[in-house]
Amino acid sequence: MSLTGKVVLVTGASRRIGRSIAIALANEGARVAIHYGGSEAEARQTAAECGDAPVFQANLESVAEIRDLFDRVAGHFGQLDGLVNNAARFTCFDPLNLEEADWDYIHNVNLKATFFCAQAAARIKLKGEGGHIVNLSSLGGLRPWAHHAHYCASKAGVIMLTRSLAKAWAPKISVNSVAPGVIPFDKVDQRIERLIAVTPAARAGTGEEIADAVLFFLKASRFTTGQTIAVDGGLSQK
Ligand SMILES: NC(=O)c1ccc[n+]([C@@H]2O[C@H](COP(=O)([O-])OP(=O)(O)OC[C@H]3O[C@@H](n4cnc5c(N)ncnc54)[C@H](OP(=O)(O)O)[C@@H]3O)[C@@H](O)[C@H]2O)c1
Repeated sequence: MSLTGKVVLVTGASRRIGRSIAIALANEGARVAIHYGGSEAEARQTAAECGDAPVFQANLESVAEIRDLFDRVAGHFGQLDGLVNNAARFTCFDPLNLEEADWDYIHNVNLKATFFCAQAAARIKLKGEGGHIVNLSSLGGLRPWAHHAHYCASKAGVIMLTRSLAKAWAPKISVNSVAPGVIPFDKVDQRIERLIAVTPAARAGTGEEIADAVLFFLKASRFTTGQTIAVDGGLSQK
């Protein structure tokens, strides 16, 4: 399927992987809605690189703000063909020291917002011609990490949400997931260095490589649904 003229909302599109996805979509001729939380300057820069795409601010911890975001996007474009649930948080805790607020900080965005964004998108798409949803999960949703149990659980949840929603909304909406491996943008710490050292590809990945997989799902027929592709240089095979 061609993405030319298709309207795709990317959450957390101001920086890093979200920015790479938004630019790849714009390069394919899609009309991209750039969502951001706090990084307004970076979002406007990404929007400029996407042919002056519109930007939309929302705190995805709030379901009311999510619903308002989708109303604004649908109002602006008059349609919605694709959603890329990219926004997320990442923290590191010994599970013995994790508090309720630390758990909620991760799950409110990684799992709850992913669900309610998908629901808001589906309510629009099911009334129209249907479309595609791609959720960013993680290698951490496939493999256990001792100091990220809360994060791993949230991303494993995204993978099961992907499968359940694919079943709920077939055949009008496909729901798939991309699970990135190590995709660094800042200075790499010792943990990241160790992960790269055991990656069969012997290197980290790039935002563009994640965007390639996201675009594969957005361009595929809706017969491809409920699937997760790990883009991780083979690390999930170890
Ligand atoms: N980078 C990696 O190595 C890696 C590995 C595995 C999985 N992933 C997954 O791939 C996706 C992108 O990764 P990334 O590293 O580029 O992500 P990131 O920089 O950690 O986060 C992406 C964006 O999410 C937005 N966000 C977070 N909480 C929000 C909230 N409450 N409301 C609105 N926006 C919020 C932020 O937007 P603002 O800056 O505008 O606030 C942030 O820029 C994520 O789902 C991540 O879990 C990444």
